Amino acid sequence: NAFPIILGIESSCDDTAAAVIQNHKILSNVIANQKIHQSYGGVVPELASRAHQQNIVPVVNEAIKIAGIKKEDLSAIAYTRGPGLMGSLLVGSSFAKSLSLALDIPLIEINHMVGHILAHFIEDANENPPSFPFLCLTVSGGHTQIVKVSNFFEMEILGETIDDAAGEAFDKAGKIMGLDYPSGPIIDKLAKEGNPDKFKFSKPKVDEFKFSFSGLKTAILYFIQKEVKENPHFIEENLNDLCASIQKTIVDILMEKLIAAAEKTGITQVAIAGGVSANSEIRNRLKSMETEKNWKVFIPKFEYTTDNAAMIAMTGQLKFEQEDFAEINSKSVSKYSI
Ligand code: KG4
Ligand code: ZN
Repeated sequence: NAFPIILGIESSCDDTAAAVIQNHKILSNVIANQKIHQSYGGVVPELASRAHQQNIVPVVNEAIKIAGIKKEDLSAIAYTRGPGLMGSLLVGSSFAKSLSLALDIPLIEINHMVGHILAHFIEDANENPPSFPFLCLTVSGGHTQIVKVSNFFEMEILGETIDDAAGEAFDKAGKIMGLDYPSGPIIDKLAKEGNPDKFKFSKPKVDEFKFSFSGLKTAILYFIQKEVKENPHFIEENLNDLCASIQKTIVDILMEKLIAAAEKTGITQVAIAGGVSANSEIRNRLKSMETEKNWKVFIPKFEYTTDNAAMIAMTGQLKFEQEDFAEINSKSVSKYSI
């Protein structure tokens, strides 16, 4: 076959994932979630890297098998170089390096955040992919950025968070309410039965396209502590309303900045990426901008929003086309700007 076949490997946080792509088409997309962090209120780095070590071989084998290929059919191996947890990144990079040496095929290093954005170019991610330039709101457990995407590898961060990420705001709010980690999807579900206007939390005052979520976390903590003092059952009795109100506040903050960025740049093609883009409220609010502001909105298929290897394979394919290959001694990096 004329088109190269790329294996993507993702291990930056708590998901071990592998995917195979050929000509923008995902042939397999395998992911092993680490349930182990659920009760800790966050990812425990040491436990994460140990779980990656156990998962990586079966996950890659499964991806190869589902794709209906043999390892020898691979043209290159793309892996997440960063940003992420060092111990987790190292498992993926050592595995990718050994396999590329064994098969004598090129190695491609991927920036995880670029991967989230370029997931939009997977064939079945959108009806039509965005054209350049577009804005992308990248919202995950570790990042919150508004990015101007001028080309596949020409990206500029217009603004980002000065403290917590949007996903962290969901997770920390969930922890205060006694919910499991990650709390984002749980809050999303409970919010559907709640009143988003029941509780009001003030929004941060930060420059232009910057974000801040640590003040919101503190406000939620103090508010709940105060209420629980008067009524020990406050959380259980108001859980759905709390979730809906917190979710609305976070989404309001994100949308306000995104609208400002679209107005300032004059760009009306707007995409969303990263784990928090799985959130139903932000999806609805973005969709409504198509009629309200005449935007063209891009919301990737659910499985390409939270951490996955399909996005790494997709970015790998684009880098392969440019023959942008990595050295075998390339170092993993916990901080890595797009
Ligand atoms: O991109 P991702 O899978 O991993 C990182 O690179 O961080 O994002 C994970 C984050 C977590 O904070 C999780 O709570 C949040 O995405 N998340 C959600 C939803 N699904 C995942 N937040 C709100 N609503 C959701 N439905
Ligand atoms: Zn991510």
